Amino acid sequence: MRPDLETVADHLDPRVPDWAMPSVRPARREDLSGLAAIEEEGDRQFAQRFGGVDWPPPVSGADRAAEPGFLLVVGDPVVGFAHVLDLGDGCWHLEQLAVAPAHQRQGVGSALLDAVHAEVEARGGSEVTLLTYADVPWNAPWYARHGYARVDPASRLAPMLEVERRLGLERHGPRVAMCRPVGGLTPPSGSRS
Ligand SMILES: CC(C)(COP(=O)(O)OP(=O)(O)OC[C@H]1O[C@@H](n2cnc3c(N)ncnc32)[C@H](O)[C@@H]1OP(=O)(O)O)[C@@H](O)C(=O)NCCC(=O)NCCS
Repeated sequence: MRPDLETVADHLDPRVPDWAMPSVRPARREDLSGLAAIEEEGDRQFAQRFGGVDWPPPVSGADRAAEPGFLLVVGDPVVGFAHVLDLGDGCWHLEQLAVAPAHQRQGVGSALLDAVHAEVEARGGSEVTLLTYADVPWNAPWYARHGYARVDPASRLAPMLEVERRLGLERHGPRVAMCRPVGGLTPPSGSRS
């Protein structure tokens, strides 16, 4: 082997080039049945953190598909998905983002989030809202690194907060509303960390 040439091992650094990022696609009918299991696995991480709580059952893929909005997925079979609701009047709400634990921390969640922003922009939206736990490391702090800022959940998010209250989500910690502009002068997308 020529000693002046670099080996593959010289370049095994952790930076993931753009072309190797997980590819995101719109959900197909056959993907729907796998979504609830992914959500349930993600919910188990909350149960571990909060201590064996009764968690609301996951929403079925079919129920998600019946809502106005869009569903994006990664993998075949699916290993992660994002469900965005069209609230009307140009308002888009990230209702769920979940990645199967075995596939987490490899950029799948970030790729889905970037695709959500691009899709909302393509559909003429100017911002995305969400509700999440303030103090869970992979919730509000992670979204903040992806350009989301806390907002007053009054007005259009109030009905969703009410649903969350009924489900008892607030028992485990403060929930916060967050919003991120898309298109135009958007904040830089978060890095993997
Ligand atoms: C939030 C979620 C979608 C992120 O997916 P992901 O594919 O791991 O995201 P990325 O790989 O793009 O980002 C990884 C970063 O997220 C943060 N993160 C992810 N899991 C974490 C954990 N268990 N503890 C602390 N930080 C975590 C870290 O900053 C991590 O970077 P690092 O690995 O360099 O430390 C995923 O954790 C998940 O599905 N969680 C359960 C469901 C959920 O909470 N959804 C959001 C509801 S609002």
